[in-house]
Amino acid sequence: MRYIIKILVYTFIICLFTCKENNNNVLAVNEDKNRLSNDIENKVNNLLNKMTLEEKIGQMNQYNGFWDLTGPKPKEGAAAKKYEHLRKGYVGSMLNVRGVKEVMSVQKIAVEETRLGIPLIIGFDVIHGYETLSPIPLAESASWDLEAIKKSAAMAAEEAAAAGINWTFAPMVDVSRDARWGRVMEGAGEDTYLGSKIAVARVQGFQGEDLSSYKSLAACAKHFAAYGFAESGRDYNTADVGTSTLNNVILPPFKAAKEAGVRTFMNSFNELNGIPATGDKYLQRDVLKGQWNFNGFIVSDWGSITEMIAHGHAKDGKHAAELAVKAGSDMDMESYLYVEELAKLVKEGKVEEALITDAARRILRVKFELGLFDDPYKYLNEQREKEIIGHQKFHEASLDIATKSIVLLKNENNLLPLKKEGQNIAVIGALANDKTSPLGSWRIAAKDSTAVSVLEGLKNYQGNTIYYAKGADVSIGKQEFATEIEVNNNDKSGFEEAINVAKNKDAVIMVLGEHGYQSGEGRSRTQLGLPGVQQELLEAVYKVNKNIILVLNNGRPLAINWADKHIPSIIEAWQLGSQSGNAIAKILYGDYNPSAKLPMSFPRSVGQVPIYYNYKNTGRPTLPAPDVVFWSHYQDEANTPLYPFGHGLSYTNFKYETISVQNSYSTSGNVEVLIKLTNTGTLKGKEVVQLYIQDTYASVTRPVKELKGFQLVELEPGESKNITFTLTDKELGFYNNQGIYIVEPGDFKVFAGGSSNTVLESKFEIVK
Ligand code: NOJ
Repeated sequence: MRYIIKILVYTFIICLFTCKENNNNVLAVNEDKNRLSNDIENKVNNLLNKMTLEEKIGQMNQYNGFWDLTGPKPKEGAAAKKYEHLRKGYVGSMLNVRGVKEVMSVQKIAVEETRLGIPLIIGFDVIHGYETLSPIPLAESASWDLEAIKKSAAMAAEEAAAAGINWTFAPMVDVSRDARWGRVMEGAGEDTYLGSKIAVARVQGFQGEDLSSYKSLAACAKHFAAYGFAESGRDYNTADVGTSTLNNVILPPFKAAKEAGVRTFMNSFNELNGIPATGDKYLQRDVLKGQWNFNGFIVSDWGSITEMIAHGHAKDGKHAAELAVKAGSDMDMESYLYVEELAKLVKEGKVEEALITDAARRILRVKFELGLFDDPYKYLNEQREKEIIGHQKFHEASLDIATKSIVLLKNENNLLPLKKEGQNIAVIGALANDKTSPLGSWRIAAKDSTAVSVLEGLKNYQGNTIYYAKGADVSIGKQEFATEIEVNNNDKSGFEEAINVAKNKDAVIMVLGEHGYQSGEGRSRTQLGLPGVQQELLEAVYKVNKNIILVLNNGRPLAINWADKHIPSIIEAWQLGSQSGNAIAKILYGDYNPSAKLPMSFPRSVGQVPIYYNYKNTGRPTLPAPDVVFWSHYQDEANTPLYPFGHGLSYTNFKYETISVQNSYSTSGNVEVLIKLTNTGTLKGKEVVQLYIQDTYASVTRPVKELKGFQLVELEPGESKNITFTLTDKELGFYNNQGIYIVEPGDFKVFAGGSSNTVLESKFEIVK
């Protein structure tokens, strides 16, 4: 007892000093930050005092650069005006200018030829890498590994910054439940909790500790808001969501990004409740800049100010500019309406100059924070560009996150991992030999044919003999931005060769799925099966050899019912970026034990979409009595997904042994949940332990399950661990329909498992 008291006294004394020291450090850092931001505010104000109305509006104008088009073609004549406007100081930002030489050519004009020499902020879609690509964001999200995701974003930032870029239009934090929507590849999937954590990791990765470092980029949380809820999964379509879904499902990842310090937001193309998001004052001024106190700036999406005319919200361009600026859109991407109309609107008294000053202030603030005023050319070092772009360290990080992103969907009879010696292996599918598709969508700075293909990756393992046949194409043309990229390819002339190659082999690896351009912006699909004749190819090969390992390459969940029923092993390898084939080979041969989990439910059929784990119960959720039709179901398909959210296997086995929890606690206390997990298999492995809750009755109904915690746990064979989760008000409450966050007393269930199909359950009560 005396010892314990002594230890406590010592600890107290040590803490008295170290805690004070730590506290002093924290205070010093905060003071520094405050001083810096006061300093920046003073500089911004001084500059604003010198600026004409037109120059302030200039800051709000963004032009596309030279060659990359990431939206419809710019209006005739825009390119000519670009230089005239640049020289007058009427351009605050450019996008799609990349490479030190090119950026220098426009930055020099802004800095050396304009009256005030205000540097441009150069934006670019650094979505999953610059020239070295990491997995598409949906794939990375499957790793549930926040450190690896943060590192991947930091690598992307460093490489892009070396090419003269200051600002990325990422992360996309749109929650989406609809696999038809091509842009699911760019997000973190269907879940708000996971999506919020990933949003924070990506913002921290891109922006780093110090925004003014030449290795970091300003990040942009997009698309504000509800873009991922496009009706029927058709890109740019109307979103129609209620208050509860908006507040509880869609907005939290944006709020998390804001709290992580994201410096910019992008609004969205869709309308929400009858108002195009670009012209939505409630979202931008009331929520984001008001309630959330966001002091960075909002950029419109490409031409989205003009598009308010087509939406039927604005009468003409001038009206659109007025609506957008009043709603809080600070920067105009590619509509040219601010530069053309805003000065007139101010002079006519239709728009207050204070709104313009506020927008310019926000943009200048971020430019100061990036250090662009200290040295506008700091990102522009040709030597660094040469040394950094494509650096080995980016490839190492890309391989690391790629292996962590591959999901083992099914593995019957332990067909995987493959033996490393003496095997005859057939490899089939156009995607197995494709060095471009693995780069996925959003890879403007990456060169075609630079990914490691599956065939190349397999060559790292020399002990087996590989036989390859293409079998069939993936049914897509080659053009990146063409409308009709899916060609109805019925060509089965390669089937015979594939069948012959598959015969009498120890195993057949079939690499099937989507072409790299089959998902992404503007690439919505109505079918979720394997495109073209790939399904027929799979079935034909199966007839001669049942030992098939299906490797899926795709940018969205696919409906692969037949494969699930027949094929013994299936891995979801998405589009994994530059190191794709190496990562896949490592998984196939067991040099990395799969640890990834699906961030989106995989449907059984497209008719189930939107399908997601955290749905609400109906009044008739289950069969009330045998043979009675009156319950919420389909006649031709189960309600459940093929693979649920959070699903993913390992080469070892994990047993969720016990769950324990306090029975009751009062509001604003914490509840601890203890889970015991054992590795019952024979290999070391990592498991994503997932914790879900259900608020069983509430003033506004709550989902049947909600993810509220997860931890990556590594266990040796036979090892057990106790894992603790702490649930606080942050996890237990929700937004009511007045937008107020509340925690209601009542009964809760708590679940744990290795997917949203949880295996352990307990309960507790919140009392007043
Ligand atoms: C349109 C896309 O919706 C947006 O996400 C992207 O950042 C811009 N184009 C710029 O390329």
